[in-house]
Amino acid sequence: MIHPHFLVIPYPILGHMNPLLQFSQVLVNHGCKITFLITEFNQTRMKNEIEHLGTQIKFVALPDGLDPEDDRTDQPKVILSLRNTLPPKLHNLIQDINASDGHHSNITCLLISKNMGWALEFGHKLGIKGALMWPASATSFASFHSIPTLIHHRIIDPQTGLPTRKQEIQLLPNSPMMDTENLPWCSLGKNFFLHMLEDTESLKFGEWWLCNTTCELEPGALGKWPRFLPIGPLMMSDTTKSSFWREDTTCLDWLDQQPPQSVVYVSFGSLAIVEANQFKELALGLDLLNKPFLWVVRPSNDSNKDNNAYPDGFIGSKGKIIGWGPQKKILNHPAIACFITHCGWNSIIEGLCAGIPFLCCPFFSDQFINKSYICDVWKVGVGLDKDENGLISKGEIRKKVEQVLGNEDIKARSLKLMELTLNNSAQAGQSSKNLQKFINWAKD
Ligand code: UDX
Repeated sequence: MIHPHFLVIPYPILGHMNPLLQFSQVLVNHGCKITFLITEFNQTRMKNEIEHLGTQIKFVALPDGLDPEDDRTDQPKVILSLRNTLPPKLHNLIQDINASDGHHSNITCLLISKNMGWALEFGHKLGIKGALMWPASATSFASFHSIPTLIHHRIIDPQTGLPTRKQEIQLLPNSPMMDTENLPWCSLGKNFFLHMLEDTESLKFGEWWLCNTTCELEPGALGKWPRFLPIGPLMMSDTTKSSFWREDTTCLDWLDQQPPQSVVYVSFGSLAIVEANQFKELALGLDLLNKPFLWVVRPSNDSNKDNNAYPDGFIGSKGKIIGWGPQKKILNHPAIACFITHCGWNSIIEGLCAGIPFLCCPFFSDQFINKSYICDVWKVGVGLDKDENGLISKGEIRKKVEQVLGNEDIKARSLKLMELTLNNSAQAGQSSKNLQKFINWAKD
């Protein structure tokens, strides 16, 4: 019997590395071998965390082509550098791996994430099959595939991707209406849009497009392309450590001390930066709640070092603030009442699997359409609205938290959707069947 050997190649940011790592763990549990590529920059930064990830997955590192001091939040720059630097090095790496064990453990498949589409084309030329793991919603993926149609109908400008005029459109049947200004690339700049166009074209070399979603959640997007393989929420059930950042687990003891369904959990994922004024308003809003709160405040880096200044008058005595936590465990803790989120896709799936209602404040990209799913389609949460100064005020935070926690319909729908979503990863569930189909393909 062939044991598939995957070379996993994520785009080197946490929002891609973590889902691919978690899916790699699922594949290991099903007898597959995994070699996981990271950049040398991340290898240095995440050395301790990688050491704690165990030995089932083999990590290998290659340079990203940038200088240590280069800005790695500049996505177009990173995408271009990886595309120019990696192919010859990847070629040598695969040759070395294949030669290392008398060809008994040749790389048989490439598994990549968004922005690394070139690697599928590269693998295709070497005769290695490939698949994509999309680290966001199927709808956001579908929106990138709709770009030629949107250009054809003059809804967006072909050079910038920006809307020719503000209007509401529906990208897919059963998906929410969206404002063209909220198309996922509009907040990311022209260069990103042009890279995405190129990347999307390369994805045709991927046999499967795996997505952490389910048919109930996104029927419109999944029905459109047979290559889509929903595997949500398989990665949620895995309890082994599967994150590249150190987690502060003291919050679990603190949660144990809180009454059931009392704590407001606040987290904005790995990328969003909360501006200083909004940070202050949020702090004061949490103080106003007659409830405990658990707030993830990522440590500042140079570019946002002044943002995390707590305002005068902030007490915070009812809350706990951590730098980064074990989010899946937090959401599933009986003390959690609701989730104030930036609407990143992974956070949404994790919240759905815990049956927790959401309060939504999207920052950029796909997060606006994700919010529409929560508020308008699934109806398991409400949006936090900005005032005339562009801020979500402390009063709005208190009002909406009370609204959500007092709404029994939202709570009932959250529990129902949790059950439907989790059914997919049961043994006879659709995602379990899809996983088996994927592994059979990899063995073939
Ligand atoms: C990015 C994009 O920003 C988002 O728009 C897209 O939908 C997915 O890729 P990110 O912003 O990091 O992701 O958000 P999200 O998708 O929610 O992922 C955050 C991950 O970090 C989750 O898996 C969450 O469990 C984890 N997390 C968050 C922790 O492990 N600990 C924390 O304290 C906070």
